[in-house]
Amino acid sequence: MRELTEKARAEIAAAGSSAQLEQVRVRYLGRRAELPLLLRGVAQLPPEQRAEVGRQANLARRDLEALIAERMETLAVGEMQGRLAADAIDVTLPGSPTVPVGRLHVLTQTTRELEDIFLGLGFTVLEGPEVETVHYNFDALNHGKTHPARARTDTFYLSNEVVLRTHTSPMQIRAMEAHPPPLYVVIPGRVFRPDSDATHTPQFHQIEGLAVDEDITLADLKGTLLAFARAVFGDERQVRLRPHFFPFTEPSVEVDVSCFQCSGSGSMRDGSRCALCKGEGWLEVLGAGEVDPNVYSAVPDTERNAPGYDPEKVQGYAWGMGIERIAMLKHGIPDLRLYFENDLRFLGQFG
Ligand code: PHE
Repeated sequence: MRELTEKARAEIAAAGSSAQLEQVRVRYLGRRAELPLLLRGVAQLPPEQRAEVGRQANLARRDLEALIAERMETLAVGEMQGRLAADAIDVTLPGSPTVPVGRLHVLTQTTRELEDIFLGLGFTVLEGPEVETVHYNFDALNHGKTHPARARTDTFYLSNEVVLRTHTSPMQIRAMEAHPPPLYVVIPGRVFRPDSDATHTPQFHQIEGLAVDEDITLADLKGTLLAFARAVFGDERQVRLRPHFFPFTEPSVEVDVSCFQCSGSGSMRDGSRCALCKGEGWLEVLGAGEVDPNVYSAVPDTERNAPGYDPEKVQGYAWGMGIERIAMLKHGIPDLRLYFENDLRFLGQFG
């Protein structure tokens, strides 16, 4: 009996888990174990032995039961703590695998940068409809009835009178209808033309500018665009205006910024031709001009806008800038289509 209980005590102490301890319990206190068999056999013993053997066996059993219960408690607490530790979730850690934070598309970044620059110069930002009427897109902007831009091959028509705007210029008219002079606004937005190749996508973005006040000349336009060019492409930039034609500006110009890669020289330090401006020293960035008096005449006088835009009293300038082009020049982006293919390897490089 002594030997048996010593062995049982040792095994109880050695049990490493509640499952192991249960096996020990069955081995020593289970229905077919030695000690219970002994207890059940007490009745068959000679009467003078019964009391002593029964007492000792009972003591041994209670002793083991108590030991097992105590050890079971210790093991269970440890096991519970182990499970809790294994299950613990720190909700303050980032999810796994870490999900990268999104960022603004490079065109949105560029648009916002341009808006900030012109806001700083005193302009207000407006937006307008992408689905536009022929009246606002062409007629009110002084396009003759046979102007080639009206062709079905150059413009998406939704009906004879409704188009997807081909430029942001229709907002010149809408802005003037809504606000009396003086007016200083920029209008970013999507525009649409049925072209598709490395340098044209059917959808692209422009930012229009319109300033109407008294005594506004091309010199004001040039100063404004110089400030823009220096903010985007660097303090040393120059701008130049070349004669051009648009139906709704007179005179009209194309505006170049001196090349920021070769500082306008057209060649690199090692004498090679500058690849960005192709040796020209200048980068074309936008079309602009003095607002044609016919455009003011297309803005009706309204109660809100009385006396309206009198071509004898107001002058102004306007420009239209391609946002894709600005971002391409600035970041060295080689192909327009990259903007719209949603390849994260491309998009992840900006911002
Ligand atoms: N709307 C013209 C274009 O898309 C650009 C422009 C705007 C030119 C304003 C002059 C004045 O090409």
